[in-house]
Amino acid sequence: MGGGNILGYSGKLLVLVSIFGLLFEFVDSGGHNVSEVCGEGSRASCIKHSINAMGENEGPAPQAEGPSPSQEPVASDFEDIKLFLLYPVIQSFKKSITSDPFNITGTWVGPDICGKYRGFFCDNPPNNLSAKTVSSIDFNGFQLGAPSVTEFIEQFVDLALFHANSNRFGGTISPGIANLPFLYELDVSNNLLAGAFPTAVFGIAQLSFLDIRFNSFSGTVPKQLFALLNAEVVFINNNNFMQRLPETLGSSTVSYLALANNKFTGTIPRSICNASRSLIEVLLLNNELYGCLPYEVGFLGRATVFDVGNNRLTGPIPYSFGCLGRVEQLVLAGNSLYGRVPEVVCALGNLLNLSLSDNYFTSMGPICRSLAKSGVLDDRNNCIPGRPSQRPVEECVEFLLKKTICPSIASYYYIPCKITHLDADPSSSTESRTYSALAGTRPLSPKMD
Ligand SMILES: *[C@@H]1O[C@H](CO)[C@@H](O)[C@H](O)[C@H]1NC(C)=O
Ligand SMILES: *[C@@H]1O[C@H](CO)[C@@H](O)[C@H](O)[C@H]1NC(C)=O
Ligand SMILES: *[C@@H]1O[C@H](CO)[C@@H](O)[C@H](O)[C@H]1NC(C)=O
Ligand SMILES: *[C@@H]1O[C@H](CO)[C@@H](O)[C@H](O)[C@H]1NC(C)=O
Ligand SMILES: *[C@@H]1O[C@H](CO)[C@@H](O)[C@H](O)[C@H]1NC(C)=O
Repeated sequence: MGGGNILGYSGKLLVLVSIFGLLFEFVDSGGHNVSEVCGEGSRASCIKHSINAMGENEGPAPQAEGPSPSQEPVASDFEDIKLFLLYPVIQSFKKSITSDPFNITGTWVGPDICGKYRGFFCDNPPNNLSAKTVSSIDFNGFQLGAPSVTEFIEQFVDLALFHANSNRFGGTISPGIANLPFLYELDVSNNLLAGAFPTAVFGIAQLSFLDIRFNSFSGTVPKQLFALLNAEVVFINNNNFMQRLPETLGSSTVSYLALANNKFTGTIPRSICNASRSLIEVLLLNNELYGCLPYEVGFLGRATVFDVGNNRLTGPIPYSFGCLGRVEQLVLAGNSLYGRVPEVVCALGNLLNLSLSDNYFTSMGPICRSLAKSGVLDDRNNCIPGRPSQRPVEECVEFLLKKTICPSIASYYYIPCKITHLDADPSSSTESRTYSALAGTRPLSPKMD
């Protein structure tokens, strides 16, 4: 693991990996002893602790000892002047904590911030390798309550990561957060944050991971989300965002985009094809999208997940979807799609799940039928003669008489790629990152008892 620098500035990749649930590879499954990590200056145990905390796979263990400081520590008690300056910041935040079921803040005592304080991790900041300061704050699963949290974290000028999944923090994301030059991961998912989309995040220069899912943000998402934000991962699912999907979606550099479980409306913008070099997983399920599936979706050649389930989409599946050569999860269920299921789509070599149930498809060919037989294709509750579990005929007739015809219908039969079927490579199948975002808690869910 090289420098083992997961705690801060160069651990970017590893941290991303761990977040996405691959972390059990790094964690010994046996009894990890959180009661004394990081205290002995052992980097290895710090790393282990940091990974555990991120996966929040266990309830925080109460700290055994707590040297009750009879007097306030002085500068010389601290390892670094930077830590001395952060001490009052932490103490004042501690006073604002309204709930702390695991007595986390009981460890926030005395000058040994790097060693003893649960949730705080230290490293040398990139602009001064002889200094030591808090590089990472990880409150995942601590269930701390406080009226606000970002006014607190914006005072950690060297912060690289802030993770606070599953707490009870209120307020919103304060503008000062844009002044943190090293911050690249911001996770405030599953809290009580509310208000408008926190535009402050656009100012965070290094941000590569933004996770604000499972809060109560509402209103519209500024166009900049797609045009400006240079992040690789954006999870804003499970809020109350309500607006048309912006046309700027195509300018996005995001690879993992979860907009699910909001109230996005409008059509899927044709500009989506312009994001073909970046988009890998796209979760638009459970919104209020309408209109026809644009032919341009077929250009998402890197996409492994495309999920628009449970919207109000209609029209046929464009044959261009047969160009989604890497797609593994293609979920179109719960819409009002109709027509024939294109054989080129069923022939996609990497498909693990082609979910078409609860639509109005009327026919499918032998490749699709064999995919249904193998359990990859779900065609229940459609209008396909001779298939089991279809809609009543009257329902189908009623729908088909009133169906909407898509504009530029000719494009639906155009295949903008060379079809090279049978390039299945099951060994390359990847675990979905965005789907785990649909759970409120982090992938290795806590067993808080
Ligand atoms: C954890 O560490 C403490 C202190 O060293 C020790 O007493 C305890 O037995 C350890 N627990 C486990 C599960 O290893
Ligand atoms: C919290 O932890 C501190 C330090 O270990 C301890 O002194 C205090 O009594 C604990 N408080 C509660 C409510 O358990
Ligand atoms: C680097 O950090 C050390 C320890 O905090 C401090 O003494 C030193 O002045 C800093 N150097 C610079 C160039 O800021
Ligand atoms: C994609 O981007 C190009 C260049 O910026 C632009 O001309 C084109 O209109 C865009 N396509 C769509 C469908 O928006
Ligand atoms: C396919 O995806 C749908 C929608 O997410 C899900 O309900 C279903 O269980 C999945 N089927 C398989 C075989 O993975």
